[in-house]
Amino acid sequence: MKDLISLHDLTADEVKGLLELGIKLKAEQKSGKEHHILKGKTLGMIFTKSSTRTRVSFEVGMTQLGGYPLFLSSNDIQLGRGETIYDTAKVLERMLDGIMIRTYAHQDVIDLAEYADIPVINALTDLLHPCQVLADLMTAYEHKGKLEGLKLAYIGDGNNMAHSLMYGCAKAGLDCAIAAPDNYQCDAQVIANAKEDFKKSGRELILTNDPVEAIKNADIVYTDTWVSMGQEKEKAERQKVFMPYQVNGGLFAHADSEAVFMHCLPAYRGYEVTEEIIDGPHSVIFDEAENRLHAQKAVMATLMG
Ligand code: CP
Ligand code: NVA
Repeated sequence: MKDLISLHDLTADEVKGLLELGIKLKAEQKSGKEHHILKGKTLGMIFTKSSTRTRVSFEVGMTQLGGYPLFLSSNDIQLGRGETIYDTAKVLERMLDGIMIRTYAHQDVIDLAEYADIPVINALTDLLHPCQVLADLMTAYEHKGKLEGLKLAYIGDGNNMAHSLMYGCAKAGLDCAIAAPDNYQCDAQVIANAKEDFKKSGRELILTNDPVEAIKNADIVYTDTWVSMGQEKEKAERQKVFMPYQVNGGLFAHADSEAVFMHCLPAYRGYEVTEEIIDGPHSVIFDEAENRLHAQKAVMATLMG
């Protein structure tokens, strides 16, 4: 493992190893154990999109491992003014020990990883969000005591979260059901890749436009914003199309009675999820947010340690 670009690139054992290390690092942090795994190392953090959780969790995680996080907003670096990915990679690899990048085009992250001789971590593209899913799987494990054999239902846009959740479920041995409106289904290539992964795991992948079918007996109910970063102009249209996909009390009643509710955040109450659900007893959203820190420490320790 040189980079973390997509969970599809990892073996099931590599995903499980990262989750186990995340759980261990979390316990050690709670017990006050100090780490120097990344002492003297610097992580460059390139952001061309906004972030709360990702920025804070990578900065704090790097600090807790004894390293130094360097925030690089695209407003400030030359990449934002048209310097190439190639030149950026070649310069940064001379000074940094790893790069984390959040951006629009997934291909830019693939290119950066190819050109840079240091680890590159995908911190969200239009296509994928693997770090979030590592934190989500860790959270599901903490609440359910296992992952193998659980069913995760994702209701909403066939977006970066849906894609990474499919990959993550396949690698960790969960069944996965995605319900999205007809014109907002998941990317065809991601579906083809995920089907290969599910074949290997022997678990089930359900792709439907029916939220009730997807959520039936689910152990984990997941949703995400209907309007991802970069889609702001489509907001009015999307809010109309997606309303039947809102996770509310009526829909949630079809899930397992002990199901947990998850959301990567930021959330828009009254749209993709009602207050009753996101602020209710089944919600584990802030555990997911905290686990970004622990899961990404595992990623950084593995790639840069
Ligand atoms: N879930 C997530 O990635 O949040 P941020 O956009 O705040 O980083
Ligand atoms: N799908 C959302 C996830 C935000 C963490 C987006 O890309 O904006």
